[in-house]
Amino acid sequence: MIKKTLMTLSLAVAMTLGSFGGGIAFADEEAVNHGKTVAFNRQKGNCLSCHMMDDGDQAGTQGPPLIAMKLRFPNREDLRARIYNPLEFNPNTIMPPFGLHNILSDEEIDAIVEYLYTL
Ligand code: HEC
Repeated sequence: MIKKTLMTLSLAVAMTLGSFGGGIAFADEEAVNHGKTVAFNRQKGNCLSCHMMDDGDQAGTQGPPLIAMKLRFPNREDLRARIYNPLEFNPNTIMPPFGLHNILSDEEIDAIVEYLYTL
């Protein structure tokens, strides 16, 4: 009896989490995919040349691994600023100021932020 109740409970929790996560993933899926493409593209973000991230091959280690982004950058604007103009945080950084120097468009940076929040 107790076992059955527990099973029903955990099933309900799993279903709730599943639909919640699924809903979010569906809404942002397009931006996330676009962001990953731009980030990985060697002619675009080329983030992998310096950052380990996701399932990217041959990643460089000059920059910190891009993991647990939501935890470390709960504020979206803070994370965006790191990509738009990293010089603001470290005037000697080797990371290109992707927004300031028009290397990436605003829309591409927004998509990357969307993608980074899945890491
Ligand atoms: C030429 C190397 C290089 C490239 C390319 C590069 N970065 Fe960086 N990045 C760095 C370094 C080094 C840091 C560490 C802070 C600093 O020195 O500015 C950094 C820091 C960051 C941070 C802050 C992370 C933290 O944990 O503090 C984020 C976010 C970030 N990079 C995202 C990106 C994204 C997204 C791309 C691609 C669009 C990218 N970087 C491309 C070198 C690079």
